[in-house]
Amino acid sequence: MKWEFPGRVAVGMRARDLDGRITYVNPAFCHMVGWSADELVGSMPPMPYWLPEDMEKTYALHRAVLRGDAPPDGFEIVFRRKNGERFHALVYEAPLIESDGRHTGWMASVLDVTERKKAEELARQHQEKLQRTSRLITMGEMASTLAHELNQPLSAIASYATGCLNRLAAGDAKVEELTAPLTKLGVQAQRAGHIIRRIHDFVRKSDPLVAPCALNRVVEGAMGFLEAEARKRAIRVDLELDPRDPQVEADRILIEQVVLNLARNAMEAMGQTPAAERILDVTVESADGLAVVRVADQGGGIAPEVAESLFTPFFTTKSEGMGMGLNICRSIIESHRGRLWFEPNPDGGAIFQFTLPEKLS
Ligand SMILES: Nc1ncnc2c1ncn2[C@@H]1O[C@H](COP(=O)(O)OP(=O)(O)OP(=O)(O)O)[C@@H](O)[C@H]1O
Ligand SMILES: [Mg+2]
Repeated sequence: MKWEFPGRVAVGMRARDLDGRITYVNPAFCHMVGWSADELVGSMPPMPYWLPEDMEKTYALHRAVLRGDAPPDGFEIVFRRKNGERFHALVYEAPLIESDGRHTGWMASVLDVTERKKAEELARQHQEKLQRTSRLITMGEMASTLAHELNQPLSAIASYATGCLNRLAAGDAKVEELTAPLTKLGVQAQRAGHIIRRIHDFVRKSDPLVAPCALNRVVEGAMGFLEAEARKRAIRVDLELDPRDPQVEADRILIEQVVLNLARNAMEAMGQTPAAERILDVTVESADGLAVVRVADQGGGIAPEVAESLFTPFFTTKSEGMGMGLNICRSIIESHRGRLWFEPNPDGGAIFQFTLPEKLS
């Protein structure tokens, strides 16, 4: 049976004597560089896996190791494989001490970190993209953002106020009857204030007010704000929370905004849906360190030509729409290291969903 070498995860080991001659290499090291142990053991510098254009630098490093001056935290170097391929290696050098205490050479552990390098590069690119996304929200857009987000509490305030006035006009208003709507009105006014403060902070690029919070509670809270509107539109809201009660590090007001926006879009999408099918499914789930919030509607779904521009600022198909909702949602979720996307709903309509990393406890 051929012995399958487990590849990149293994640590290469290479021993050298005090003169710098290779005295031992393990199979992982041979696999990394592509030369066999027979070819390597006994070699003196320059080693075949050194880069021809970096000879001087590599010699200098080699001499430092032999002097005992190798960086204690290891060093990174590019080596070449026998097939010409290059790879990033992370090397740790330690003295080889015999049982009688004699120092006979140096043992290096060598890790192929090419994959890790690639991952780091990806992370860096993603970070840049994130910054670009955040920068998208410029001062001009902030005005739209505020207008957009404030619409909700302001229209609620207006409708509570109208309700109270109607009661008063009818002449049979009891004080107790007015207490509840006026209290709700107050809550909405406070909410409006919160939104202004939080979004203002967000735009000013101060870090969002991130704190541990229970995602179930955040989603529940957001959906609470939409009860009245759902009733008005005769939409049944099915809220399914995660029994595992996932915790996330998040700015809860901003995440609430996202849920509100997605749920409001979903409700608006069901204007033409027959009443019996007007169901809004909101689900919180978590698995493998990732929490997911799903907002599924049974509306008309997303047409392909709409799909492309959905997240573009000011894109809207609605006469009254501002078209900032989804753009802001995505910026907010990405600034929390999450992802936001949509899929067609197999039951008809669209499913908008976002992830957030679960807080490690
Ligand atoms: N659940 C959905 N089903 C179908 N289309 C959707 C859905 N959500 C969003 N869209 C489409 O995406 C567009 C952009 O949504 P977005 O929330 O950014 O802005 P808007 O809802 O049009 O306006 P605003 O949110 O500013 O009032 C909408 O106009 C609509 O065409
Ligand atoms: Mg919207």
